[in-house]
Amino acid sequence: MGISDVVVNELKIDPAYVLPPEFRPKLVEGLKELDDIPVIDLAPLLANDVKGTQIIVEQVAKACEEWGFFQVINHGIPIKLLEDVEAEALKFFSLPLELKRKIQRTLENPLGYFDSELTKNVRDWKEVFDFVTRGKLEYAAADGKLNVQENKWPENPPHLKDACEAWKEATLGLAYKLLELLALSLGLPATYFNPVFEKEDTNLLRLNYYPPCPAPDLVLGVSRHKDSCGLTLLVQDEVGGLEVRRNDGEWIRVKPRRDAFVINVGDLFQVWSNDRYKSIEHRVVVNEHKRRFSVPLFINPSYSTKVFPIPELLDAQHPPKYREYMWGDCLQSLKNSNFKNMGAENLQI
Ligand code: SIN
Ligand code: FE2
Repeated sequence: MGISDVVVNELKIDPAYVLPPEFRPKLVEGLKELDDIPVIDLAPLLANDVKGTQIIVEQVAKACEEWGFFQVINHGIPIKLLEDVEAEALKFFSLPLELKRKIQRTLENPLGYFDSELTKNVRDWKEVFDFVTRGKLEYAAADGKLNVQENKWPENPPHLKDACEAWKEATLGLAYKLLELLALSLGLPATYFNPVFEKEDTNLLRLNYYPPCPAPDLVLGVSRHKDSCGLTLLVQDEVGGLEVRRNDGEWIRVKPRRDAFVINVGDLFQVWSNDRYKSIEHRVVVNEHKRRFSVPLFINPSYSTKVFPIPELLDAQHPPKYREYMWGDCLQSLKNSNFKNMGAENLQI
């Protein structure tokens, strides 16, 4: 029995949560959160200022090339909507486990509550509530039959659904503006991605609840991973814990800003842009004393979308680096907690 096993036993932490030593977070006393992740002010875009929007497009291109992550402020979404979601979500996560598990994720229906997510085969120190923005998820099951699964809402708290629906409407509007900025930043027409995302999207909204943890140096709220989706728009509370892996391998803590969305491009943009934009590894560190709350919106195309490098971005000097794959296959692998099986890194030519 090694030293870490002794520690684990004393703390009575289920070993399923404990990371191999090389993947544990470094908890530095008085950690300085860094402002490095670019912050982009969307005010000119919202004011239809053409010149200002052009500057935003350039900022987006630079941030996606250098970081794969950026933050946006002055995005036009009232903070009250977030406060409502947070208040209702905290009521839900405070319920006894057996009540939460009444709307638990199942193999059949991946929506609802879940407290046993594995990332890289280690259990994440978190609870989640997932719902799709279209209200139902449709996909072809292994036998080829159409499988339709609906969102599952708890009876309690009764207003969770309304708060989440209002948040959904507001954030989807922002997501579509960001998709236009991303298209322009790649030199494509603004509406290039609209057909991909408009029809039968599989967007997912997640409420993340990270309880306080007696051993934040042994576990992670979410282990290192890349997002398989198109785009992630995340809001977080003031506790902090999201870390992004910089090019040099260092983990950088994103300083939480209540007024900002943290945006990152997922694997789909890595493939579409043929590696010009990178889907970057990130993870979540938990806190010994404080719970943390975050809300990511994953923007995803329809189940049958075929993903491949965009022909307009290829030429003799830039041959395609990825083979084609179907988004639905990737989604299926996520549903089985088999995170990353279908990610961009496994599809390289
Ligand atoms: C995630 O990457 O899945 C969650 C990020 C966060 O909670 O900050
Ligand atoms: Fe993520």
